[in-house]
Amino acid sequence: MAAMEIAVEIGTGYTSIYLPGNGIVLREPTVIAFIGDPRNRRVHAVGAQAEKMLGKTPERTAIVKPVSDGVISDAEACGVLLREFIKKILPDNYIFFPRIKAILGIPTGLNMEERAVYEDVCAAAGISEVTMIDNIILSGIGLDLPIDSAGGGVVVNIGAGTTEIAALSLAGVVSGCGVTIGGDMMDKAVMDFVAGKYDLKIGIGTARKIKNEIGSLYENDTSEMLVSGRNVKTKNTGSAYVTAVDVCEVVKPYYLRIADAVESIINMCPPEIVGEINKKGIYVVGGGSRILGIEQVFSERLGVNVYTVEQPSYCVILGAGKLLGDKELLGRILIQK
Ligand SMILES: Nc1ncnc2c1ncn2[C@@H]1O[C@H](COP(=O)(O)OP(=O)(O)OP(=O)(O)O)[C@@H](O)[C@H]1O
Ligand SMILES: [Mg+2]
Repeated sequence: MAAMEIAVEIGTGYTSIYLPGNGIVLREPTVIAFIGDPRNRRVHAVGAQAEKMLGKTPERTAIVKPVSDGVISDAEACGVLLREFIKKILPDNYIFFPRIKAILGIPTGLNMEERAVYEDVCAAAGISEVTMIDNIILSGIGLDLPIDSAGGGVVVNIGAGTTEIAALSLAGVVSGCGVTIGGDMMDKAVMDFVAGKYDLKIGIGTARKIKNEIGSLYENDTSEMLVSGRNVKTKNTGSAYVTAVDVCEVVKPYYLRIADAVESIINMCPPEIVGEINKKGIYVVGGGSRILGIEQVFSERLGVNVYTVEQPSYCVILGAGKLLGDKELLGRILIQK
């Protein structure tokens, strides 16, 4: 029987699976809950269901987020989780686990040892043949950039655990880097800020909601949000209005650090490529690109046009999906490695 082909992205926040002909068939939090003692643990819940249990873990249950800062940190849990996700997307008429070939997005610049971890995870998940491609190249393909032409474009992917930046040209990376700045770190910083300014201890989920719903890089934004928590001094429940200006004060420094990293990547490019970048601008994707004002702040800092897209979290998986159907481009990318 012919192998089933899929594309997979295992992000710090979310895992996605693409099936040719069906598109993105799964996007769920990269979270797994186990039950039982550690040496003999069983899967209790995965994805969205497991995430709901975060912070309210019953006894004998352990919640694991197997990807940290963009990289797999618990290979065993990740393999089990990916296998469960694959099972979810198999059509009902599959009696046996099929032979699976996958294109997998991986963080830029992994060494051989780290790549071996991704291979082991795929094997444990039941994938018999895997082709690993840098996430940032997949983002470029997902954006429909001409990545195999000279000066194909600059892509910045701001995720939950990491930010990847690369100038793409001739189906490869001319200059690129990953920095461990992402939305998770900003959520934690918002949580600490609210505790300091309003004496209010809020959960990480509330901090994320504040950042994602009223977050802005404009210093004069007037939105605000009423949030509840526990007073850090009295321990009683309490609430406070957190403002967009608060969020800006917390998150803007992270975004400016990302802009600085983008600038150094551009500075490392040969002059002809810099010329192309000045003409074409740069693309910012990943969930972190949804923050209000990012185009303006980045373009003022970098002196080039900055573009965002409607569905920034889907670029990597859509790019991987497109590659499944374009073996010629896949071949050109693999030759560059
Ligand atoms: N409106 C928003 N403003 C700011 N950040 C947002 C917004 N919406 C989502 N995010 C953040 O985007 C991040 C998720 O993005 P994405 O799905 O690209 O990450 P990921 O691919 O799972 O992680 P990584 O690439 O780091 O491994 C989360 O930290 C989330 O809080
Ligand atoms: Mg990502």
